[in-house]
Amino acid sequence: MDIIHTVSALRAHLQAPENGGRAIGFVPTMGNLHEGHIDLVRIARDRVGMGGLVVMSIFVNRLQFGPKEDFDKYPRTFADDVEKCRQAGVDVIFAPDEHEMYPEPQGYVIEPPEIQHILDGAVRPGHFRGVATVVMKLFNMVQPSLAVFGKKDYQQCRLLDTMVRQFNMPIKIILAETIRADDGLALSSRNIYLSTAERKEAPQLFVALQAIKTYLLAGRRDFDSIEAEALNRLTMRGWQPDYLTIRCQSDLLEPIASDELQIMPLVILGACRLGTTRLIDNLEVLL
Ligand code: PAJ
Repeated sequence: MDIIHTVSALRAHLQAPENGGRAIGFVPTMGNLHEGHIDLVRIARDRVGMGGLVVMSIFVNRLQFGPKEDFDKYPRTFADDVEKCRQAGVDVIFAPDEHEMYPEPQGYVIEPPEIQHILDGAVRPGHFRGVATVVMKLFNMVQPSLAVFGKKDYQQCRLLDTMVRQFNMPIKIILAETIRADDGLALSSRNIYLSTAERKEAPQLFVALQAIKTYLLAGRRDFDSIEAEALNRLTMRGWQPDYLTIRCQSDLLEPIASDELQIMPLVILGACRLGTTRLIDNLEVLL
């Protein structure tokens, strides 16, 4: 496994005679790796085969953090991450520092469409602009044939899939299912912020999503009251919900129009705070 810190060394490595022409499967991350990230590596390897190269980037991207968010305290565990990558069979870790990624102020940015302002984007202004901009840069640096993203960050997946399509980028985007702990909590680097009591409570977000799914499958179509009931339940348990909402599985994740109620792939999206930790999760439903 090679660990590379600069764009020029990455390019030289990927274009070396022994690597030229090999399919590249790319897994962008911010490190602090858990089983969810490692599953993306497995999927990338599966797709490119042993003849291909699996590249993981590890970069905590300041551009996607708001001024009051956890950029400074975001867990950085590079030595552990390297070991996990080695065991998972990653070929190349690309870990640029901030100056390598942003040697000058990033004047050009990717401005995503309206979807960047809803749901997580409404709570985290500028977040998705920062995500899209760094992913565009990473794609230009790595030039992968495919890239794997986790549905855990559903809105991010949608937005990046649209970006690649609308900019005609020759990259296949593969979306991976969310990996969960045994009690249902979606794995996340931010779970380490939870106290013991909060960690016990945390699976209730997934419980709420599953309850909504059960109601929908049972035929209920009073979306607003289903959402309100689930929100109330979490609030009563001490959560501070940002949103809990049923949306169409579409590029813009729009709410369901009442004339579209028949066969519709939906997704229930939730973001709620437990103490100071913000957890997000989602669940797809096919009605
Ligand atoms: P990060 O939060 O490190 O996540 C890296 C990738 O792992 C993302 O595609 C994310 O959706 C996926 N992932 C996280 N938890 C998962 C889980 N429990 N199951 C499956 N996949 C999971 O997302 C980012 O970093 C950044 O925004 C990034 C795309 C790297 C741009 O900076």
